[in-house]
Amino acid sequence: MSSLASLSRISRPIDRAALIERYRRNRERSRALFDLLIDENALYSRPIALRHPFVFYEGHVPAFSLNTLVKSALGEPGIDSELETLFARGIDPPTDGATADDAARERERWPGRDVVERFARAADARVIEALTRADIDRPGHPWLDRAEAVFVILEHEAMHQETLHYMLHRLPWDAKRRPAGDRPRLEGAAPPPTWIEIPPGRATLGVDPGSAPFTWDNEGPHHAEPVAAYAMERHDVSNAAFMEFVTAGGYQEPRFWHPDDWIWVQREGIRQPPFWERHGGDWSWRGMFEAIRLPPAWPVYVSHAEATAYARWRGARLPTEAEFQRAAYGVPGGGERPFPWGDAPPEPRHGVFDFTAWEPAPVGSHPDGRSAWGIEDLVGNGWEWTSTPFGPFPGFRPRASYPEYSADFFDGDHFVMKGGSPATASELLRPTFRNWFRARYRHVYATFRCVRDRA
Ligand SMILES: [Fe+2]
Repeated sequence: MSSLASLSRISRPIDRAALIERYRRNRERSRALFDLLIDENALYSRPIALRHPFVFYEGHVPAFSLNTLVKSALGEPGIDSELETLFARGIDPPTDGATADDAARERERWPGRDVVERFARAADARVIEALTRADIDRPGHPWLDRAEAVFVILEHEAMHQETLHYMLHRLPWDAKRRPAGDRPRLEGAAPPPTWIEIPPGRATLGVDPGSAPFTWDNEGPHHAEPVAAYAMERHDVSNAAFMEFVTAGGYQEPRFWHPDDWIWVQREGIRQPPFWERHGGDWSWRGMFEAIRLPPAWPVYVSHAEATAYARWRGARLPTEAEFQRAAYGVPGGGERPFPWGDAPPEPRHGVFDFTAWEPAPVGSHPDGRSAWGIEDLVGNGWEWTSTPFGPFPGFRPRASYPEYSADFFDGDHFVMKGGSPATASELLRPTFRNWFRARYRHVYATFRCVRDRA
């Protein structure tokens, strides 16, 4: 640590050792995910048509870190401009479905595994070197004020780990290795629906950049919104609860669906949630490593379109982003807390997040994570869909370090998700963090709960 003594000109103390530790932990977690792939065929496969093959992400994550911190922010040279360009955005996947020779063509589009791994190791070395010695915290600098580029690369990798998780979920079971000791929690029956009344009040949305160590552009600025009285379900909608919608013919009844979603349901022949599979009269959950007899008490994972249709069938609706905020962070009598359970940093007893499980747990099985209103699992066990289209808060400003991060998605087609899933890093569980997806994107670990208006 003696080399750190020469860094006294940095205006604010930054904990380099902690940042390096976090970078290394991220890299190890990514490595462990790629190591689940059984062979090179799996590495070059593309289980979700709209995503690149796994090999792209093996190169993209370190390339993004190198491009963002070392090259753009610090102005230092790169390693291999061709690979840095290839892995910055990748090659657009074909829009048509898989064909027999897709696998062979996919293989030709990307460099060999040894090339990708060598590049990743070199990029890691340069990033660690920068984190150890470079002037990474420069007040007023567009990329390095409060070490912004460092947090951008750290959170970018953590978010890609979640993408990798749900891509892995779609891969055939014989294409991945099951870690020793993996045992999904299957116990329990789904609790009966319970509605919790929340009186009118205000909800904080957003935070001013500068009052938190790091936030993305879409998290600011700080403002508060009035929220009318409403009732929210205590639990996420379980597989058992959603089964009632399925058996009642909900997927065949246009009046529950937004017209565009109805066209999609018809066209794609969708009849059930994306993690459900039917074998004769039996239903199973498409688990990460095996088929699991459908656990009735697990939260159902569905698209926004399916969540919205179910809520309409129940005579209810999805919560707005502000209603989610008030339910999760508001306190009866006024005030807000940083986590649903209070001030304590996230721990496994509060919910299922931070890569502690490959599947969700039964709803309501983490009472220590309840909100002040007694609402369960608002953070963890699956992102929560809201009815709010993803958009900028008043006064939004994109960041120089990653201007397209949010602005490319302010199109009215994406909806805000809050909370977190089993594959969400604990650093991302802050109350202002916002996630977003298209209404009909079905692969993500997203659940929901219903709300109703109150007079
Ligand atoms: Fe990325």
